[in-house]
Amino acid sequence: MNIIKAKTYEELSAKAAVIIGAKILSKPSCVLGFATGGTPVGTYAELVRMYKEGVLDWSGVATYNLDEYYGNPVTDKNSYYYFMQQNLFKYVNIKQENTHLPNGMAKDAEEECARYEAAINAAGGIDLQLLGIGHNGHIGFNEPADAFAEITNHVKLTDSTINANSRYYANRDEVPKSALSMGIGTIMRARKILLLISGKDKAEIAQKALYGPVTPRVPASILQYHKHCTVILAVD
Ligand code: F6R
Repeated sequence: MNIIKAKTYEELSAKAAVIIGAKILSKPSCVLGFATGGTPVGTYAELVRMYKEGVLDWSGVATYNLDEYYGNPVTDKNSYYYFMQQNLFKYVNIKQENTHLPNGMAKDAEEECARYEAAINAAGGIDLQLLGIGHNGHIGFNEPADAFAEITNHVKLTDSTINANSRYYANRDEVPKSALSMGIGTIMRARKILLLISGKDKAEIAQKALYGPVTPRVPASILQYHKHCTVILAVD
């Protein structure tokens, strides 16, 4: 693992955007894996800035997001589709048809997971996967478990994740209880991974994930085995 320390969230975001921007410059038709949540918001803002300054051209880029809530329409402000539109897609010249998230309204969740996994493979796999980390070590919606999930799957969310997500809803009952998420295998097949860890509250899980034993109880710990994983840390 290549671990880069940043002093501030702004520095973390700027460094992450440079790494993603460099991928777009070196491979204009690259396939990027994206994440939602609070951590990458600054990175997306930097990427928008780089587009507006004429540094980046998104016309050949394709994206696949890690996950989407199940049973949430895309018009819902908490859907990850909505998040990506608001934070990145509507501000850059990416083609809408090249942006992909699991369909959280699909009738058959399992069929949708298989379709999504096949679509990623048909696109040639992910060149660079951006990740955040949950306080329990989850990546995507891969929660602590007895085994690592291999492919995109329908996940029941843990209480810890439902509680963390309830900050975006009027009350806890409204928080979706399941999601469609890339599996750990899907993530590990990405050619390069960029993990962002920000905030003092993430210092403890960062320590476990980066330096502790590799175990499905701390899903992000598997990234220690990835050949090209860069971590940007701002946890002091
Ligand atoms: C989001 C995702 C999650 C988040 C994680 C951290 O698509 O897959 O794994 O990356 O929950 O969220 P924040 O950045 O809000 O702390």
